[in-house]
Amino acid sequence: MDALTLLLNRRSASRLKTPAPQGEQLDNILAAGMRAPDHGALKPWHFVIMKDDGIKRFSELLEKAAIEGQLGEDVEEKARNAPFRAPLIITVIAKLKQHPKIPEWEQLVAASCTVQAMQMAAVAQGFGGIWRSGSWTEDAVVRAGLGCGENDRIVGFLYLGTPELKAPAKVQAPDMTGFVTYF
Ligand SMILES: Cc1cc2nc3c(=O)[nH]c(=O)nc-3n(C[C@H](O)[C@H](O)[C@H](O)COP(=O)(O)O)c2cc1C
Repeated sequence: MDALTLLLNRRSASRLKTPAPQGEQLDNILAAGMRAPDHGALKPWHFVIMKDDGIKRFSELLEKAAIEGQLGEDVEEKARNAPFRAPLIITVIAKLKQHPKIPEWEQLVAASCTVQAMQMAAVAQGFGGIWRSGSWTEDAVVRAGLGCGENDRIVGFLYLGTPELKAPAKVQAPDMTGFVTYF
């Protein structure tokens, strides 16, 4: 698939099964993330890879967060099940640094670009994925469990695998009215 076709037609895939990207495929995905645009080459990000037992541990962590937050049995069950929606999850943590020239917002944006780059690298290799977030990104139990420091932000959980639907809904040409002006 050429790059323009990918960018104009990409869709997220929320239903994902095995096989997950592995070996060189996963290395390509991580390398694409590492090539995100990055002012000052600070690399203000960290990738936490979850697969196999890691998915189970993530499930336990989300469940613990739901229990400690007294969020109720429904949320506990949802939390427990959420990580099993894909065979591979890459959690992207922005590691925001004090810098005289590069403000935190730029670092946060750079870390966010890694998610899109990794998702597209997965699609380019025949896989699918979806960028997820939700209130867990701000949860103290989840943050601690994933090793976040005080100035770290979880920018997303990138769920990856093989799309269950072989042909996702076709992408319509976007209506750009009101979104673009020429200056
Ligand atoms: C920062 C961020 C967080 C997101 N969090 C979620 C989420 O928690 N759950 C979800 O279903 N979609 C989430 N999305 C949206 C999906 O990744 C996806 O873009 C959306 O379902 C639209 O599908 P499409 O990418 O095929 O257009 C998030 C997107 C971004 C950029």
